Amino acid sequence: MTEAQLHPVQPEWKERALIDDATYRAWYETSVRDPEAFWNKHGQRIDWSKPFTKVKNTSFDGDVSIRWFEDGETNVAANCIDRHLAERGDQVAIIWEGDDPKDDRKITYREMHDQVCRLSNVLKENGVEKGDRVTIYMPMIPEAAYAMLACARIGAVHSVVFGGFSPDALAGRIVDCQSTFLITADEGLRGGKTIPLKDNADKALDIATRQGVTVRSVVVVKRTGNSVGWVEGRDLWYHDAVEKASPDCPAEAMNAEDPLFILYTSGSTGKPKGVLHTTGGYLVYAAMTHEYVFDYHDGDIYWCTADVGWVTGHSYIVYGPLANGATTLMFEGVPNYPDQSRFWKIIDKHQVNIFYTAPTALRALMGAGDRYVTSSSRKSLKVLGSVGEPINPEAWEWYYKVVGDSRVPIVDTWWQTETGGILITPLPGATDLKAGSATRPFFGVQPQLVDAEGGVLEGAADGNLCIVDSWPGQMRTVYGDHERFVQTYFSTYPGKYFTGDGCRRDADGYYWITGRVDDVLNVSGHRMGTAEVESALVSHDKVSEAAVVGYPHDVKGQGIYCYVTLMNGVEPTDALRKELVAHVRREIGAIASPDKIQFSPGLPKTRSGKIMRRILRKIAEDDYGALGDTSTLADPAVVDDLVSNRQNKK
Ligand code: WT7
Repeated sequence: MTEAQLHPVQPEWKERALIDDATYRAWYETSVRDPEAFWNKHGQRIDWSKPFTKVKNTSFDGDVSIRWFEDGETNVAANCIDRHLAERGDQVAIIWEGDDPKDDRKITYREMHDQVCRLSNVLKENGVEKGDRVTIYMPMIPEAAYAMLACARIGAVHSVVFGGFSPDALAGRIVDCQSTFLITADEGLRGGKTIPLKDNADKALDIATRQGVTVRSVVVVKRTGNSVGWVEGRDLWYHDAVEKASPDCPAEAMNAEDPLFILYTSGSTGKPKGVLHTTGGYLVYAAMTHEYVFDYHDGDIYWCTADVGWVTGHSYIVYGPLANGATTLMFEGVPNYPDQSRFWKIIDKHQVNIFYTAPTALRALMGAGDRYVTSSSRKSLKVLGSVGEPINPEAWEWYYKVVGDSRVPIVDTWWQTETGGILITPLPGATDLKAGSATRPFFGVQPQLVDAEGGVLEGAADGNLCIVDSWPGQMRTVYGDHERFVQTYFSTYPGKYFTGDGCRRDADGYYWITGRVDDVLNVSGHRMGTAEVESALVSHDKVSEAAVVGYPHDVKGQGIYCYVTLMNGVEPTDALRKELVAHVRREIGAIASPDKIQFSPGLPKTRSGKIMRRILRKIAEDDYGALGDTSTLADPAVVDDLVSNRQNKK
């Protein structure tokens, strides 16, 4: 091994591991040599009401077409619930831990079956049909999972919108997929504070109606019980409706390639894209990665701290774990409420074996001091996971030594909303670990590094990360815009899926993700397009132009740095700075809050009018000694002004 501290697989893993190194190598080899045979075998891990006879039919060329198990029929909810009833009906499916440590609930597979069937009937009674889009805007409560599963059961396509998004952002997503049904809650509760979900939803539905999409029914879960606005004939209380509904609801037979869900995600340009995932391949991939990446054994208590509003929540709180008959923990709150020991207390309270979280949370908790961790036992832990952004070696070592007592392997899992499941990751019993590396590809995944011109890089190299062949969990299209799908992912390097990430491969063949190489930011593990923040800023009537870049941030990974040119005659004041921050939060949501705003009378542009972001990034990083070539600028003097007014002096 060549670099970083190496952490070899620990001896006790020889007993426990589902996959050891020899198995990893053998399976990986078959998976890329004969994907048909490999996935024909692993496709059987779910139940099919009509078995597939075709395995893989995919092309990354031309129009791009991705089909897996295409003549099979199955139902995702039946696989996540009904299939387990005979053997584990009384096993806990979901452990819910509320925002307040006194609030918790345990839901068995049988109870979940009853709830999901009833809710499925409520959807049907209110006119939801197979293929219809249902928007879910929910806090982290079991009803969010029931809502997803009820859609899957009847063949409706869910679009979960993160509860932190603004009414505008919610409206945009409702309109884009023409969703006429909404499931929400009165309010959310996080860190002791309420989030006005129903109120936001009401505002969003007004905006959507003005844009031509009218939501017909809104199902509202009572979470806090505080009073909310009500539209008679449109709104109905979840608990009333579910109680009256029948607990019998057959699962719809779905084709493997029928849509399962849409999830909006930010790109480098334009509005968020509706990433479309389908039924069979997605479930096979989510379940298989959940089992092998976390070395999930029957009876393990598994906890992923993500929100169901992100893909991590879809694949690794709901679908993957439930397809495997696991006990999945769902946490409503935040890591620092009531205090910074909350995660570790929950681990002890529920005897969590597998814990999966994001580097940004680890960095924040690391800053709080070790005593919050060391006052807990954490003896139940067997596997630790990381996801969402590169984990810096310091945070990795802290996670390993302090949280895991140098005893528990860490799986640093690289993947994306688009990939549906984990693509590059260690397997705990197979992979020697290096702090900060996502290590090796999962079965069937063929990474390739290319240079800017598309030349393939071999051996140890640094380049842009592509994947050269399909895997079952891959997104199938951008909802309603297949051309955008082809353009975004398959046109930069024709015939290859381009991830948008930079990556290094070391001499041992380990992959080190270096971060986005496009105009996508990763702020606290949340993906944010610079274009979205820019368009929010310019929608303010005092702003004439804006350019947004990321800069390194100790806790968030990246911070949001905005260069703003004001309308003629507008005074650049601190009050206006605050107003603009509030404006962006209102337009998109708190996750898009600008960290720095620099008023700049001019932006560095080429003679053809293109903003030179490279220069803006350097100034935001306070690294303006290395601005590089500025000779192509229309007005080089702009740069001097930008440097002297920079907002991030180190
Ligand atoms: C982007 C995808 C994957 C679910 C959560 C985020 C970054 C994700 C890692 C990791 C380094 C990572 C990449 C990727 N990313 N995981 N383990 N190491 N970077 O999903 O919102 O679609 O974001 O997150 O830049 O492209 P997403």
